[in-house]
Amino acid sequence: MSLPRRKDPADLRSARWFAPDDLRSFGHRSRLMQLGYSEADFMGKPVIGILNTWSELNACHAHFRERAQDVKRGIFQAGGFAVELPSLSVDESFTKPTSMLYRNMLAMEVEENIRSHPLDGVVLMGGCDKTTPGLVMGAITAGVPVIYLPAGPMLRGNYAGRVLGSGSDAWKYWDERRAGNVSDAEWQGLQGGIARSAGVCMTMGTASTMTAIADAMGLTLPGASSIPAVDSGHQRMGADCGRRIVDMVWEDLTPDRIVTAAAVRNAAIVAMATGCSTNAVVHLIAMARRAGVELSLDDLDALGRVTPLIANVRPSGKDYLMEDFFHAGGLRALMAQLRDRLDLDCLTVTGRTMGENLEGAVVWNEDVIRPLSNPVYAEGSLAVLRGNLCPDGAVIKPAACDPKFHIHEGPALVFDSYPAMKAAIDDETLDVTPDTVLVLRNAGPLGGPGMPEWGMLPIPKALIKQGYRDMLRISDARMSGTSYGACVLHVAPESFIGGPLALLKTGDLVRMDLPARRLDMLVSEEELARRRTDWTPPQPHFERGWGWMFSRHVTQADKGCDFDFLERGFGRAAGEPDI
Ligand code: FES
Ligand code: MG
Repeated sequence: MSLPRRKDPADLRSARWFAPDDLRSFGHRSRLMQLGYSEADFMGKPVIGILNTWSELNACHAHFRERAQDVKRGIFQAGGFAVELPSLSVDESFTKPTSMLYRNMLAMEVEENIRSHPLDGVVLMGGCDKTTPGLVMGAITAGVPVIYLPAGPMLRGNYAGRVLGSGSDAWKYWDERRAGNVSDAEWQGLQGGIARSAGVCMTMGTASTMTAIADAMGLTLPGASSIPAVDSGHQRMGADCGRRIVDMVWEDLTPDRIVTAAAVRNAAIVAMATGCSTNAVVHLIAMARRAGVELSLDDLDALGRVTPLIANVRPSGKDYLMEDFFHAGGLRALMAQLRDRLDLDCLTVTGRTMGENLEGAVVWNEDVIRPLSNPVYAEGSLAVLRGNLCPDGAVIKPAACDPKFHIHEGPALVFDSYPAMKAAIDDETLDVTPDTVLVLRNAGPLGGPGMPEWGMLPIPKALIKQGYRDMLRISDARMSGTSYGACVLHVAPESFIGGPLALLKTGDLVRMDLPARRLDMLVSEEELARRRTDWTPPQPHFERGWGWMFSRHVTQADKGCDFDFLERGFGRAAGEPDI
């Protein structure tokens, strides 16, 4: 099946800029000629924006300048006119306090970049964690045809014959170093071997989870999310994106025809089956809401309970990395295992249905992509907890935590800030036992600020030295998708705005019952009421600029942390430029 052509050159959005015989259009045409193009290059052709999140402080996108050339090759071949525009890079590695503070800035920039410019279609180039949701959120709102080009994972890490996984092995060896088991020379070797090429983190961290979600939603070419960044297939995929977006413009294949409730559900199922990053919860909800699809934490918990985890990729899986996943058949092969659970009629950027895209997908290695009959875990990518500590929900990744914590009760050790925790955690006289529940608060969307990835709270050195590597930890922060452990995250409402986590005191008993999806502090209602009266809100972090705006408009984790005024349904939609 292919889609009928719906547009002629006169209907192109860009025709508004270039076609009229008036002074403004004269200016637009003459400025493209200033760039060395002739009318034959652009008149009557779909103008395709390549929104490129390249930056020299985003190592994950180091190949994007070259990749944009592959995309252009495809666009010109298919009879389109390509223009490359920079987009905010939102790099995960260098941005302080957290890249999450800027996901919505990218989304706003994308929306306005598209709205204000003569673009008929867009290729979105992203991959490093927040870039996928940022680009997709903005593009959904902007409403022109888009295709997502995922950066692809970097090569496997390697040091001294050991395979290294992004993030996960950094945490693991850091704990060993704190225990005195890793020499300076080994630490240097690990540092040089853990990130060997362009591309995103090659564990199933936030980046690979989010690009898989974009793929499963139908926003990428089929299976594009699994292709390693430096594989020549990635270049070919780039050119294919360029060729395809031109046809998508003629077909008027806009995101609202693709990102439907069924496509969001498909994406959520696939996320669960990959052992997704907990960050997926926040981003998936935010993207869905942009498309007018209500997705709740409870919907995700319900899917988490029934979806087997079949991607044996770290950190939830045991042995493999994204490169292995690609060679085992990649996302198409994984989705083919889930055929019976997915809505195969969803339309995708190919102009075909998801079912058609999955035809012929083969699993080449059943240890990496497991059959449903032999999952890594029968359920448990994500679970949502509720209780008097988190009335609006909290998230945990059961598959990544020691099962002995699934039902756990212990005394809280509460830190009010990350620096306070950092200062105390290596004090070997710290009053902790393996049963202690470590708590960090003021780390949510407003408190962090930006809900930093602090949620895999460090195990106190006193316990590390005794050989412990996991304990129950609770925060209103997020954690990296490459993290692991018994970490309860995204506690909502957050403590900074007076959520119940703000009322917890060191020594209070905390109880988690994962099978019952409960998280409670065992403190009486009267006592909590007293503490609530005594609570004073902390000083705001920002009194000007972006942070001020962020603090006023960001929603809580259970609503996706979008800005209230950017959500679908807020106010009248922006119109086309009228001058
Ligand atoms: Fe970019 Fe992990 S730092 S994907
Ligand atoms: Mg990450």
